[in-house]
Amino acid sequence: MIVFNWKMNPTSLNQALELAQVSDKKNVVLCPPFVFLSKIKLKKAWLGAQDCFWQNQGAFTGQTSPLMLKKMGCSYVIIGHSERRRLFQETDQMINQKIKACLLLKMKPIICVGSEKKGQSARKEIEKQLEKSLDKQAQNIVVAYEPVSAISTNKGIIPTVQEIKQAQNIIKTKLVDIFGVEKARKVKIIYGGSVDSENIKRFTDQTGMDGFLIGAASLKVKEIKKILS
Ligand code: PGA
Repeated sequence: MIVFNWKMNPTSLNQALELAQVSDKKNVVLCPPFVFLSKIKLKKAWLGAQDCFWQNQGAFTGQTSPLMLKKMGCSYVIIGHSERRRLFQETDQMINQKIKACLLLKMKPIICVGSEKKGQSARKEIEKQLEKSLDKQAQNIVVAYEPVSAISTNKGIIPTVQEIKQAQNIIKTKLVDIFGVEKARKVKIIYGGSVDSENIKRFTDQTGMDGFLIGAASLKVKEIKKILS
């Protein structure tokens, strides 16, 4: 599973349509900015959103309704990206409400977890993010592990394979705690942070991750083609 997160890019519809066309492959989830969602027609890839609100309609200026996203054809919604947590003060409690709203409409939330810290403190933070945002019945999800410093527009420090595996284990163990063994096993865990066409093969072979959440490289036609080849 490859999730392309364009973030607040590109700035024109023409560029968006060009990127969408090359990205329209099986097992891809394409997450453009809201304003392009209705214009992008995909044949093979899934359409996803980068965020949503937890209410379906009402007096919430500037927010985007999960019901509107569903009607627009979205199957996935990224929830709790570190940029939303950090720049827009999203809390685990808000993330919990967003996840519930998506699940009620049968859209799959891609829940981002990760920390700026290392070692035990990182473990604690990831565990807390999962505990506070996931209810027992919220099993139909994808979890994206994104260490904050690994994101290309932050420091772009890619963790070692061993560090990624450790985080994967922390997440798996916590999911078992919350959902039980059987249901936890069905949750896909993906990695995000400076993944590109050069390193994706190594990550796939060595980390056993179920997929990747890709930002910067999803905006370059050459990169997209190589990643999906
Ligand atoms: P990056 O972004 O691939 O540019 O590091 C990943 C993300 O923030 O989702």
